[in-house]
Amino acid sequence: MRIEILPDDIALAARAAGVICGAGPRAHIGLPTGGTPVRAYAELARRAAAGDCDLSGVTAWAVDEFAGVPAGTRGTNAAFFARHIAFPLRALHLPDAGAADAAAEAAAFASRLRDAGGLDLCVLGIGVNGHIAFNEPGAPADAQARAVDLAPESRAAHAAAFGSLDAVPERGMTLGIADILAARAILALASGAAKAEIVRRAIEGAPSAAVPASWLQRHGNVTWLLDEAAAASLARR
Ligand code: GLP
Repeated sequence: MRIEILPDDIALAARAAGVICGAGPRAHIGLPTGGTPVRAYAELARRAAAGDCDLSGVTAWAVDEFAGVPAGTRGTNAAFFARHIAFPLRALHLPDAGAADAAAEAAAFASRLRDAGGLDLCVLGIGVNGHIAFNEPGAPADAQARAVDLAPESRAAHAAAFGSLDAVPERGMTLGIADILAARAILALASGAAKAEIVRRAIEGAPSAAVPASWLQRHGNVTWLLDEAAAASLARR
């Protein structure tokens, strides 16, 4: 596991953009939503417009999506990507938030990903409760893509995006821990003081379902990009 500590969120975004640009012209890349990667996506758009980064042959796969609301509903990951992915990609695949059977939709999505050869790079954020994608606490290392009940803190984090807490779906769809660990490389991002304690548990704690991000310790090619604030609680620096 490599840990890079960047001075701030801006430097972290630039470094993340550099890794994503370097994934290869035909790479398959898993992408997260959330506040953490927004600056990196803006930086990718800037580099693409300047001709410094060409992702037009890259296929992106959302690592998760909400379930039980029409696709494109304000607050969904589809809406997030429509707003923040302002650079050309070959394709961007998401599970359909409006699918009648979310469990079947999540499984079919992961099956399409495997048929395409799997992820060359999986970019991840980390939730304050240690989730990666929508693998909430309790997710075992062999968790497959599936429909999940969202943790209260995860729903609360999306209240503003959906307009109110009541509007946030109760369920989501996610790639499983197993799908994520099958990626050839993983890039995990965390910024801000609110993530410091969970980052410490994910990186320095024993791997456990209590902190799903700790399962990343089992992967041989993981890079954590942390800003100073998110790295503040690490013992080994
Ligand atoms: C969200 C997403 C995750 C994301 C995480 C962290 O709910 N499901 O894919 O990585 O929470 O979000 P943020 O970067 O806003 O802290």
